[in-house]
Amino acid sequence: MTKKPCIIVSAPVPADLRQLLEASCDTVDVPMGKSPLEVLPQEQWSQIDGMVCTVKTRVDAALLDAMPALKVVSNFAVGFDNVDMNAANERKVLVCNTPGVLDGAVADLTIGLMLCVARNLVAGDAFVRSGAWTKGAFPLATDIRGKTLGLLGMGRIGRVVARTARAFDMDVIYHNRRQDTEAEAEGIARYVSRDELFAQSDVLSVHIPLAPETRKSIGAREFGMMKKTAIFLNTARGAVVDEDALIDALKNGVIAGAGLDVMTTEPLPADSPLTQLPNVVLQAHIGSATVETRRAMIDLAVHNLVNAMTGNQPKAIVNAEAWPLAREAQPA
Ligand code: DGY
Repeated sequence: MTKKPCIIVSAPVPADLRQLLEASCDTVDVPMGKSPLEVLPQEQWSQIDGMVCTVKTRVDAALLDAMPALKVVSNFAVGFDNVDMNAANERKVLVCNTPGVLDGAVADLTIGLMLCVARNLVAGDAFVRSGAWTKGAFPLATDIRGKTLGLLGMGRIGRVVARTARAFDMDVIYHNRRQDTEAEAEGIARYVSRDELFAQSDVLSVHIPLAPETRKSIGAREFGMMKKTAIFLNTARGAVVDEDALIDALKNGVIAGAGLDVMTTEPLPADSPLTQLPNVVLQAHIGSATVETRRAMIDLAVHNLVNAMTGNQPKAIVNAEAWPLAREAQPA
């Protein structure tokens, strides 16, 4: 009888998808965010062939070396900054993710944050609840219509944000490593240099992945180029920003406000200086956190893993070069 591959489940897999996994794999549960090396007995490490996990699981060289049979890591996220890609590539470990199914949800949150900050909606709610309205009118806010939205990063999510912003009559500019000729042909956004993006945007929204070259890539220099009236949005990854520089810029009126779904430290501690700033709207990394989107993500993550474990090419592969080897390494 063929031995089933053994996989770690460290993601919220619903019952029907768990059945699908168990049809072709033996499963071992690891609480989300915990290192499998801390949870599983050492004698089990060498038996692990695959894993489905969240971005809270650090997949580094130490983990990959401790689990020499591990050939597939299926991330329940589009981002894969929890995986040391150099270590994965060197060991030909296949990494899968969930692109495409969360673009709308993250774009919607981006637009929501923009409106919250520009129209001061969080403070407005508190104003009404506290009865302050009975004593006077709420201060005037700022329009987004007719303003310029700058997108740093023009991938799938950036494009949906651009299309949605066009419905708000915004002029959309973007900067990306590669110029997006399709987006330009569609007339949704215009390419500008990185410096022009920071200088011209009324609202600047970040849509770049976290990688060694993007870590802290937005700092005092970039905030210094922005308009004093500008709003900064981040629904990508907190660590692409120099957070101390952002806090300084928000405190000192270098920029007007920020909407942040992601921070350098998550969960954000209550005593973070960010929580003290009145010109910031904070969310708990909820860009993809809707019932429908999370279901689509776990569906894709589980199918990616089952496919890889059964020798079929997964739909969403991060490192295509690892696929042939991951296939060869399937347990006999
Ligand atoms: C993603 O899919 O990368 C989301 O940000 C969840 O971490």
